[in-house]
Formats: sequence, structure tokens, C-alpha cells
Amino acid sequence: MSLLEVGRTHDCGALRLEQAGEEVILMGWVDAWRDLGGRRFIDLRDRGGVTQVVFGQELDAALDAQARRLRHEWVIAVRGRVDDRVANGGTVNAQLETGAIEVRATELEILTESETPPFEIRDDVNAAEELRLKYRYLDLRRPSMQDNLVQRHRFNQAVREYMDTEGFLELETPFLIRSTPEGARDYVVPSRVHPNTFYALPQSPQLFKQLFMVAGYDRYFQIARCFRDEDLRADRQPEFTQIDMEMSFATVDSVLGVIEGLMAHTFKKVLDVTVATPFPRIEYAEAMERFGSDAPDLRFGMELKRVDDLVESSEFAVFTGTLEAGGAVKGLCLTGGAERSRKQIEALIEIVKPYGAKGLAWTKVTENGFQGGIARFFQGDAGVALQARLEGQPGDLLLFVADKEKVVNASLNALRKQLAAQLGFTDPKSFPFCWVTRFPLFERDEETGALLSSHHPFTAPEETDPAALEADPVGRPSQAYDLVLNGYELGSGSIRIHNREMQEAIFRILGLSAEEQDEKFGFLLDAFRYGPPPHGGIALGVDRLVMLMVGAQSIPEVIAFPKTLRAQDLMLQAPGRIDGGQLDELHLAFKAEE
Ligand code: AMO
Ligand code: AMP
Repeated sequence: MSLLEVGRTHDCGALRLEQAGEEVILMGWVDAWRDLGGRRFIDLRDRGGVTQVVFGQELDAALDAQARRLRHEWVIAVRGRVDDRVANGGTVNAQLETGAIEVRATELEILTESETPPFEIRDDVNAAEELRLKYRYLDLRRPSMQDNLVQRHRFNQAVREYMDTEGFLELETPFLIRSTPEGARDYVVPSRVHPNTFYALPQSPQLFKQLFMVAGYDRYFQIARCFRDEDLRADRQPEFTQIDMEMSFATVDSVLGVIEGLMAHTFKKVLDVTVATPFPRIEYAEAMERFGSDAPDLRFGMELKRVDDLVESSEFAVFTGTLEAGGAVKGLCLTGGAERSRKQIEALIEIVKPYGAKGLAWTKVTENGFQGGIARFFQGDAGVALQARLEGQPGDLLLFVADKEKVVNASLNALRKQLAAQLGFTDPKSFPFCWVTRFPLFERDEETGALLSSHHPFTAPEETDPAALEADPVGRPSQAYDLVLNGYELGSGSIRIHNREMQEAIFRILGLSAEEQDEKFGFLLDAFRYGPPPHGGIALGVDRLVMLMVGAQSIPEVIAFPKTLRAQDLMLQAPGRIDGGQLDELHLAFKAEE
């Protein structure tokens, strides 16, 4: 019987000293080899780990000759005896979990040979990103990628466990649908059967989960794939995964409570980390004021302070001019920052420039008032007040941006985060979650001036009277909330509208005519005629969550087959062409020139 038929007894990470003397069969990939003292040492790797296997001429010359053919990434099966490395005259390899033992081979079967891979299968591989994506199946052999995907699996299992205990049903929703507005472009799929019509792939299961509530399913969840054609970043993919949930008879408190429990359960299960619940809640307006962001990183302080009232009568024209033009001035205090040279401080402007800041004003705090930068404008009481507002101590550096509110917030948010990263305040193993609540219901499109939903058009306002809302929609708070961790928006949700009049009023405010409402959302408005329960929910981004859990830098590190920032799959060469016959069937013709 071949070794393959007998079957392996352990994976390559399993053996310890307790098994010394046992005969075992291992299978895996040749990770490395060394020849030493007439012996050949092979590191054998599989998903479980790495085990050292020894072939020696004195044992069996034929076997040894066969072992000498082995190269990187060949797949083999080995039978042998577990030996104590130290008793054999070797030393324990503390890098390996199996480092106390080795397997002395008595039988070898070469299962497949491998060509030399285009890059080494090692965690510290510095192969080009493109090469790694093209040969993703090799990249995925790297232990760190395997760990990440194992953690992702464990996270998903823990989610299912918890949601099931809480009475949530895992229900699937379709991919071939019509547009669900979440603020991105749709990926569309042409219909062969109905010429000139298209399905849209779901940006989220939003409408279906609400209809599950209308249908009486009470508590739904799904680990759902979503598709969005939007500008990509390190934390955004064109297809990504959500833990999507919805519950009937929900309040903000009840939804937040379920998710706090879910985070506590999954972090305990996957990382053995205890996260403190309940999570602090910060209202949107307060988050913008204190952090310049609706996704604050709470691992460190350095909060932003508004100083409009303290600088408006100063002689510093940059500040006063900005205030006269209706802008704002905010600053932050960098503890110990006064050690930086003028040149180093002025280089910080590069951090804020991309956010539209036209400058970065600064001054150092000393025992005798301010020094350098804008110090001369803020001597005496003016300086004392400014220092107190920013909680500056001698040795600190104060930094200010004056501009439109939006630019000030975006710039100082970026500055705050980058300085914290430079100073090592961003511990990846610290998980201070928070909620951001009471988002505005609408925001303005900067180009067209039109009102848009901040979250989506199904989010309930705090106002319960549709007429009052429609008469005065701007600046109204909604019942939407975000789950935030370490500067990332991990999830978004809301209590939903379940009242037809209110839903129609929102659509009108968003500029949808009665005909458009009927065409796009008639089914929802109809459903609301037949006893919709009050309901609400949320969706969490699995990719972002797992990224933070494993301490990865970007979501492709926790997605098996990700796309590039240009939405391509380099392994499949997707998107790709389809042939003329397929185009004809779909009633399509190319418009773009080659
Ligand atoms: P939203 O659009 O805010 O809400 O999405 C919820 C969460 O999904 C994650 N996410 C993404 N992750 C990776 N790549 C992307 N392109 C991407 N886009 C979003 C984020 C985000 O917080 N239907 C609503 C939820 C609800 O109201 O219940 C929705 O989809 O972590
Ligand atoms: P200036 O008067 O342009 O020489 O600028 C004096 C200081 O103010 C420099 O340190 C600039 O970086 C800073 N500064 C200029 N514009 C702004 C602004 N909009 N906000 C904050 N600081 C600014």
C-alpha cells in the first residue's frame, strides 16, 4: 500500500517530545533542505506547521539517493520515527513548535514535483505585489497568509455561533437584483432573455433584510458578499463581505447591545482578548469636533481644540481672515514636540496639504510663553488662554489649521493620526471600540448642491412627523450609528423607516418623483402597506474587522483572492473579453474604441 493510501497520521505542526519513538506518516511541501554531515535535513511544511525530517545514508542508501532529488515545493509523503533532537546530538529549534523533535525517515514517496516557484514561500518575501497576486496560490502558501485565513474562518464560525444563540436565522438573499442604493456605482449583469435590461449585483442585502422583517422572520443575519464599483483603497475592495443583520421590534439600544455581545464573543474566541462592553457612544457632532472625523481612533489623546474665540482679535491675519470668511481655526498639542527643529516642524505641512490645508501654523510652549512660529501674535494673556485651551505644557508643540471647517477637520484628523503612528501610540493589539451615533440624516452633494442620504434612504430620522421633516430637512439627526475601531468604520446601521408616508417623504426630499419611487422602490412601499414591524439593523465589514484582528495593514491580506486597486484579478486576468457570439446573445455591442 502506498503511503498516500495508508494516510497521514499527523499534520506537520503536531509532533512533540511525547510522541518520541512513534512511527508517523507526514505529507506536505519541501520548505527547505540542508546537507550536513552526510545527512539531508528537510523542512516539511503543511497548513499545520513545519517538521524537520532527516534522511541519512547510513540508514538506507536508496532512500537517501531519492531524498537528494527533492527541491523546493515538491510534495512528498514520509514515513519515519519521531526522535528527540537533543538525544540525536542536535539542538532544539525554538522557532518551530515541533522544534524538540525530528522525524527520521524510513520511507519516502514523491507525490508531485514542482518547478522553481517565481518567489520564495516565506513570510519575509519581498516579491513584487503584482507577482504575488498573479501566483496567488503560491502567495497563499505563506504561513502568515494561512494564519490570516484561518483566523478569518474562526471569526466567521464564532459569528455563526453567537448569532444562532441570540436567535438570528442565517438566510440568503439573491445576487441578481435591481440596484440597492448604498452610495456607490452598481456592477451590472446584462440579461440574455430580456434584451436591453440588466440586473444589478447587490451593494448590500439592505432591502431584502427589511422585507424579511415585514415577512415576520424577526431576526436575520448573513455573512453576505456585496459588490460596489467605487474608488478603491487599502480598506476597500469591489467585492467584500459583511455580517449583515436585522431585527424586529428594535431600538438603537437593542441593536447596539447585540453587536457589543458579538464583538465580545468573537474577540474572546479568536484572540482570547476581553473587550469591555458597553462601548462608549459619541454623537457625530462631538466626534467631528473632538477628532475631526466620524471614525475616531481612541487609542490616544491629542484631541482637536477649537480656538476661534481666542484668536479672532489677534493680529495674525491668516486666522482672522479665515474667521471673517466663515471658516474655523482648530489646533492640537503634540506632547514633547518642542524638541523638533523648525525644519522638521515645517515638513509636517506635507501631511495636511493633501486635505486642502494652505498652511500649518505652529508654536512651541516654553516656561516663558510661546516661542517660534506664530508666537509673536500670542504673547501675554492671549498666549496663556491658547495654551490652556490646548492643554499645552512647556516642551510641547502646538499646531493649528485655519480653513473651511471641513478642511480643518480633515487636515487635523490626518495630522493627529500620523503623529500618533510616528510616536508609536497606535498599538495594533489594543481594541477600544466606540459607537458614533446621531449622524445627520442628509448631507449636501458639493457639486450639485442636492441633498443625499448620509447613510441610506431607509434610515429613520429622529423626527416622526413626515410633514415637519419635509418642511425643514437640513441638519436633522437620524437614528443611524457606526461601529468604530482604531480609526476605521467597521459597521454602519440604523433604525429603519417602517412608515410608508415617511419613506415617501424621504424619497421626495431626495428628489425622486412619484413615478421614480414607484419604479425603483414600489415593492418596498407596497410592503409597508401590510403590517411592517418597527425594525433596525447594521452591517459590519468582515474584511476590515479581520484585518484589525490579525494586525494586517490592508484588507487584501485577509482576503484569499483579492482585486487590485484597479479592480483587477491578476491571476484570472479579470475583467476579460467575451467573444462575439456571447455579445450577440446579450444584445450588446462595443462602444469604446480599442
Ligand atoms: P455600509 O455601506 O456602511 O452599510 O457598509 C457597512 C460596512 O461594510 C464595510 N464596507 C466595505 N468593506 C470593504 N470594501 C468596501 N468597498 C466596503 N464598503 C463598505 C464597512 C462598512 O462599515 N446596508 C447598510 C447597513 C445597514 O444599514 O444595516 C450598509 O451596507 O466596514
Ligand atoms: P504666511 O503668513 O503665509 O507666511 O504663513 C505664516 C504661517 O502660517 C506659516 O507657518 C504657515 O504654514 C501658516 N499658515 C498659512 N496659512 C495657514 C492656514 N490656512 N492655517 C494654518 N496655518 C497657516
